[in-house]
Amino acid sequence: MRIVLLGAPGSGKGTQAKLLVEKYKIPQISTGDLLRAAVSAGTELGRRAKAAMDAGQLVSDDIVLGMIQDRLSQPDAKNGFILDGFPRSNPQAQALDSMLARLGQPLQLALLVDVDTSELMKRLTGRRTCKNCGQMYNVYFSPPKVSGKCDKCSGELMQRSDDNEATIGKRLEVYEQQTAPLISYYRMQNKLRRVAGVGSMQDIAREIANVIEQHIHPLSALKPAVTPAAPPAAKPRLVAQNKTAPAPQAGTGTAAGARVTLATHAGAGAKKAAPKKKVATKKKAVAKKAAPKKAAAKAAPKKKAAAKKKAVAKKKAAPKTAVRAVAKKKAATKKKVLVKKKAVVKKKTAVKKAATKKVVRKGARGRR
Ligand code: AP5
Ligand code: MG
Repeated sequence: MRIVLLGAPGSGKGTQAKLLVEKYKIPQISTGDLLRAAVSAGTELGRRAKAAMDAGQLVSDDIVLGMIQDRLSQPDAKNGFILDGFPRSNPQAQALDSMLARLGQPLQLALLVDVDTSELMKRLTGRRTCKNCGQMYNVYFSPPKVSGKCDKCSGELMQRSDDNEATIGKRLEVYEQQTAPLISYYRMQNKLRRVAGVGSMQDIAREIANVIEQHIHPLSALKPAVTPAAPPAAKPRLVAQNKTAPAPQAGTGTAAGARVTLATHAGAGAKKAAPKKKVATKKKAVAKKAAPKKAAAKAAPKKKAAAKKKAVAKKKAAPKTAVRAVAKKKAATKKKVLVKKKAVVKKKTAVKKAATKKVVRKGARGRR
């Protein structure tokens, strides 16, 4: 699962990202956290970033994009990630698209945690974070049991240096000018979903999980993304702040990079195709089961027609048979009559013959 959490400072991106980490077991990648870690470690990168952070401005893209590129290429991010606080401008979003295209793992969802500006000041000025485990509290909304101490590890709670009213004001301004345009950027890609960020943190988390499971296939949300087997992709071209980064183009980069893109796309395609295949197999099985019935159903009208034809023929033939029978009967009767007639004639002839003989005999006797 590869998602971006969008939202104003204090909207709850960090809070929700931590809950998603627990649920989906993929890392939260927060540029703010990475920058703060660099500042407190006193690295060169941290020193360069600090001034912009204290002023509530965006840190330059060359720092942030390099950091993101390194973080995304770490093994735990191969199974997916939750980006929190990055991208923060159109050039950063375009650079991210290019980076992910080279890895063959495009972004799946941009989730906007929507909170009214009037709510944000109290959330940010009241925020306290455990120095030890990073657990977050809010003195107004979710205070610790013991003031200044973490409920989980008893670590010391601290307030972020940029959580003062002046810097918060600047951060909100920068958000409106540079980050809010990403809402339409992702809407245009049909990847934007909005969740109301007010109410209980658990309710918001449930709503986010619903959106994730509706928008991203449940299996791909839980299962690891396909890992490219090719060498790591080339570093993205670093862009100066506020300058337009190269437009996202799938398959750009080295030949190896292109192969990676294709291979992983094929993997993703296969993954997507798997449920389709299952459905197709099921359909086939159902069709197979239904086949004899279907054949019978198909044959039924033919059978019916044949029977009808036979019946009609029989009906047609019936009178012929009857005529034949009558004729037969007539013939028989005729024969009988004929025989009778013959018999009568024979008898008459016999009688006649006998009479003639008698006459002849009488004559003979008379002559004698
Ligand atoms: P970053 O650390 O990212 O700060 P942000 O964007 O200003 O956001 P926040 O972390 O202040 O707020 P959040 O939305 O995470 O809210 P949270 O969950 O903590 O960036 C800091 C600075 O680093 C930037 O100003 C910039 O200089 C630099 N930077 C970072 N990324 C950069 C980039 N990509 N490019 C350039 N520069 C970059 O919650 C806030 C409070 O609200 C907490 O107390 C919490 O307990 C409370 N809360 C949360 N949810 C609720 C709720 N539902 N009800 C009541 N309270 C709640
Ligand atoms: Mg945060």
